[in-house]
Order: sequence, then C-alpha cells, then structure tokens
Amino acid sequence: MNPKLLTKIFEEQLLIQAAFSSPRQGNEKVSIRPISIKEKILYQVTRVVDHKALHSNLTAEECQKFILEELIPHFKQGFLYTTDADYHLLMNKKGEVNMLTKPASKTPQDLSHNRSKNHLLPEGAPLPFLVELGIMNAQGKVLPEKGDKFRQINRFLEMVADTLVHFDKATPLHVVDFGCGKAYLTFALYHFLRDTKGFSVEMTGLDLKKDVVQSCQAIAEKLGFTTLHFLHQNIQDFNPKTPIDLMVSLHACDTATDFALSQAVRRASRVILAAPCCQHELYSQITSHSLGGLLQYGILKERFASLATDAARAELLEMHGYTTQLLEFIDSTHTPKNILIRAVAENSAEKKAEAKGRYLLLKNALGISPILEKLLAGEKQPLN
Ligand SMILES: C[S@@+](CC[C@H](N)C(=O)[O-])C[C@H]1O[C@@H](n2cnc3c(N)ncnc32)[C@H](O)[C@@H]1O
Repeated sequence: MNPKLLTKIFEEQLLIQAAFSSPRQGNEKVSIRPISIKEKILYQVTRVVDHKALHSNLTAEECQKFILEELIPHFKQGFLYTTDADYHLLMNKKGEVNMLTKPASKTPQDLSHNRSKNHLLPEGAPLPFLVELGIMNAQGKVLPEKGDKFRQINRFLEMVADTLVHFDKATPLHVVDFGCGKAYLTFALYHFLRDTKGFSVEMTGLDLKKDVVQSCQAIAEKLGFTTLHFLHQNIQDFNPKTPIDLMVSLHACDTATDFALSQAVRRASRVILAAPCCQHELYSQITSHSLGGLLQYGILKERFASLATDAARAELLEMHGYTTQLLEFIDSTHTPKNILIRAVAENSAEKKAEAKGRYLLLKNALGISPILEKLLAGEKQPLN
C-alpha cells in the first residue's frame, strides 16, 4: 500500500473505521476506529482472537506503523473506510497490496470514547422498561451481555428519530411492529415516541408465538404502557380498523418481511422501517448466464441473492411511491443482519417511473419473480 496515502488518511483525520480479516494464521480479526480522549484523537484497536476482544489505544503515528508492519503482512484483506473513499486492500503472500477504491459508504461517527453519553436512551439512570426486560440493572447499568442489544435499540431509535418530521403530534400515531418477538425494540419505540417525544401513540406488536405475545402483553400492562397491545397473529392476516402511520418489522424471517412491506404499502403507511433477515426466496430463482462465475459458488450466490432481494424490495417500494434508503443498521461486527430499509411515502410520478425501469431491468437480468411484486399487485393474499 502506498504509505503516502496512509499518512494522508491519518494526518487529515479521514479514517472512519478500518477492518482486517482472513489472517494468514490463526483466528483473528482487527478493527480500528478513531476516538476522542481529552480532546485528543486516538485510534482504538480491537483485536478479536478466538472470540476474546483485546483493546488498545494508539496514536496516529503508532497506528500507521501497526497497519504497515503488523496488519498488512498478517492479513489477506483489509478495509479502510474514510471520509474520501473506501479502500479495499488485498494482500498477497509477499505482503504486496492490491488496492481497490470505491465511493465512501460510511459516515463519520461521534468520536466520544464513552458513546453512551450520546445514546437516545442514556445509560446511568434506570429506565423501568429496560430493567423489566433485563437489559439494565436497577442502578441503570447495562448488563455486559446485553450491550449489543442496547446499542441496537439506540441505533434503531436514531433511525426512527430522523423520520419524526413526517408525523403530526395533533393526532394519534398508529404504529405496528410485525414479527415483534420478545419486543425489546417495540417497548423502546413506544417509550421513545410517547415518553421522550410526546406523541399520542397507539401501538400493536404482532407475532406468531403465542407465549411470547402473552408475556409481552403482561409486561406492557405492568409498565403502564396502556396503548401498547400485542396480538398473536400472522402478519398477512392483520386487518386493523385504523390506518398505519409507521410500520416496523425487524428481522422477521424470510418472506415475512415481504408480507409486512405489502401490508404497509397497501395501508399507505407514511413511514416504513424494515430490517430483513435470512432471505431464501430468490436463491433458487436467480439465473444469469453472465454471472455464472459468481453464482456457481454457493456462499456467494446466497449473499448475492440476499442483496438482490433487498434491491428488488427497495425498487418496488420506490415504484409504489416511497423514497427508499438502505442503511447500515448496526456495525456488522455485532450482527450480520445489518441492512435496514427506510422508506417514506413521498415519491413523484417521475421517480416511480424511473424505479419501474430499474426494477424491470434487474428482474429480467436475474430471472427473478419476487413475492413482494405479486403481493403488491394483489395477486396473493388480498387484504380484506
Ligand atoms: C428474529 S425474530 C425478531 C424479533 C424482533 N423483531 C427483534 O428484532 O428483536 C423474528 C420474529 O418474527 C416472527 N414471525 C416470523 N414470521 C411471522 C409471521 N408471518 N407473522 C408474525 N410473526 C412472524 C417470529 O415468530 C419471530 O418472533
């Protein structure tokens, strides 16, 4: 790698995150992120060796040396995410680096070492619902094994917070969480909208697991979350009397996400937030002669099919009048299920037509016929 580029990245403080994987020996991953300690920028190195994380803080100079002398010779690949570009480094046995440059995909994070200071749900003071759900103790400290969940909840609330301009506090906000499971995010969303932001909220969490739904309902009652209700029902059978303003569906399995999206679109939900998970639908459909070199490898085909599913979903939402973003839900070191679809009903006729053009090209190029297209066309499970 060109040392001048590395020097520029550190001198101009461009680094957002670095990640090195596929070691030549052993089982190890290294990630680096800038942090601010006493107004000084340092680089926090996290080495995960055999599932144990070791942290150290380096100066810019030490960090450059560490990358050049220790990481590049030891790993087969690395990523440097900077404010200018993403650099993908591929190292050969001789330590020579082939570097691919792509447009920047990450936005700079808050550099505070103690990130909890800026969480929408702050740590330090007990929040009854987080204590009840076993995420915090009675002193307001997040339990070590629940740290990832706590970060996920906060990240999710940040994404919700950006959409609140689309809602009016004068009327009740109807929210539904499809496939709510144990409802950590449902409770957090209810607390955030009602208690922090002052909305009048009518919320429904819906899931196929009867016992989980019953225990969530009991917790809601205990907490005095009087307008939060849980339903034991299949997403496709949901038939509310009121409209949906905000539809949330996080990691509902496979095509359950498509049923959730189609419910939201057909009930004209103003905002949609969906994090898909374990997409299998397109794996058996995708065919492309020109992509044969990629599709012949099962693991690549699986990942590609999953990305293609989300691309098709995003274009279908755009076609149906939603401005759609695909966002990184939470750092992929915490979960591989890290894409979040955020869509707001506001697309112009022109944008809808452009999306239709892109969707048809994608569909024909890959030979796919996603269920969401059929659901939105009313071919399956018409809403009653
Ligand atoms: C992986 S869990 C996610 C739970 C929660 N949303 C979260 O992010 O922590 C997926 C949940 O979706 C529910 N689910 C899957 N398909 C469903 C369907 N068709 N209707 C209702 N719930 C469904 C499952 O029962 C499960 O509880």
